[in-house]
Amino acid sequence: MKSFNSITIPHPFPYQGSKRGIAKHILPHFPSNVDCLIEPFCGASAISLSASAHGLAKNIILNDLNKPLMKLWEEILERPDDLVNLYEHLWNEQHTDKKEYFFKTRETFNSTHEPHHLLYLLARIVKGAVRYSSKGLFNQSADNRRAGMRPITMRKNIKAVSALLYKKTKTCSLDFREVVSKAKINDLIYMDPPYQGTSFTRDHRYLNGLSYDEFVDALKIMNQNDSSYIISYDGQTGNKSFGKKLPESLSLKYLSIKAGRSTQATFLGNKDETIESLYLSPALVDRLNEYPFPIIQEQQELMFA
Ligand SMILES: C[S@@+](CC[C@H](N)C(=O)[O-])C[C@H]1O[C@@H](n2cnc3c(N)ncnc32)[C@H](O)[C@@H]1O
Repeated sequence: MKSFNSITIPHPFPYQGSKRGIAKHILPHFPSNVDCLIEPFCGASAISLSASAHGLAKNIILNDLNKPLMKLWEEILERPDDLVNLYEHLWNEQHTDKKEYFFKTRETFNSTHEPHHLLYLLARIVKGAVRYSSKGLFNQSADNRRAGMRPITMRKNIKAVSALLYKKTKTCSLDFREVVSKAKINDLIYMDPPYQGTSFTRDHRYLNGLSYDEFVDALKIMNQNDSSYIISYDGQTGNKSFGKKLPESLSLKYLSIKAGRSTQATFLGNKDETIESLYLSPALVDRLNEYPFPIIQEQQELMFA
C-alpha cells in the first residue's frame, strides 16, 4: 500500500477533531477515479487538503453547517492576502492586553461574523476547541499563554492552502443531507460528523449536534443511491470506546485505524493508543475492486506545517 508520509500538508487553522493526523490512513481507501470529493462536515478540511496534495480528486466540495466557518473558507480561497492582512492587524493590536483583546474580538465576532475575527479566535483558543453557547454564541476562552499563530506563518499556511484548492473547490453551508444528495456516481463523500457525546444532541463543540438515528437514516438513503462514502465515526482509546458502532444492516465495511496516542493521553501519562473507526460504503467497496488505488508519483514537499 502507498505511503502518504512524504508530503507535509498545509493547514489553515487549528481545529479540534481535525483529521490531519490520520489522513495518511484514510487516503488509501480512495478509488482511482474520483471526479469530485465531497466533504459535508469539513471543519478544517484536512482530508480534502491531503487528497488534493496527492492529486486524488479533480474537484472538491467543502460544506459545513457553521456559516461563519464557510465564510472564512471563501476568504481563504478567494482573497487569502486580504484575509491575512486583516489577521495581522488584529494580531499586532492585541499585544497591549491579549486577554482583554480576545474578549473584545469574540464579542465583535458574535455580532458581525466576520471571517478574520473567526480566524483570530481559532488561532487563540485552547487546543482549537470551538465551543458555542446554547444561543449559538462563540464562548470558548483563549489560551493566554500564547499569542496565536504569527502572521508570517499564517500567511505561508493560508496561501499554500488557497493555492492547493483554488479553482477546483466550491463551498456551501447546508445540512449534510442536502449536500450528499447531489453526489454523482464517480464522486466520493468523506464524512466526519460531530462525535457522539454524552448529551449527543446538544454538543457544544459545534453549532449543531446530530443524533445517531438521524445519521443512520441518512446513510440508508445514501446506500439506496449507491453513493460511495467513507465515514470516520468515533473510536476507542485503550479499552474505552466512545459511542455506538454503526449498524450491520447498513452493510458497511468496518476498519479500525491505530491513530497513536492522543495529546491528552500523553499529557496524563497514559500509554493507551487511540483507535479510530472508519466505515466504507458498499458502493465504494465495489468500486475499489474495479478501480483500486492508483500508484502515484511522489511529490515534493508542498509547505511547512
Ligand atoms: C468532527 S468536525 C469535522 C472535522 C474535520 N474532519 C477536519 O478535518 O477538521 C464536524 C463538523 O461538522 C459540522 N456539522 C455539525 N452538524 C452538521 C450538519 N448537520 N451538517 C453539516 N455540518 C455539520 C460542525 O460544524 C463541525 O465543523
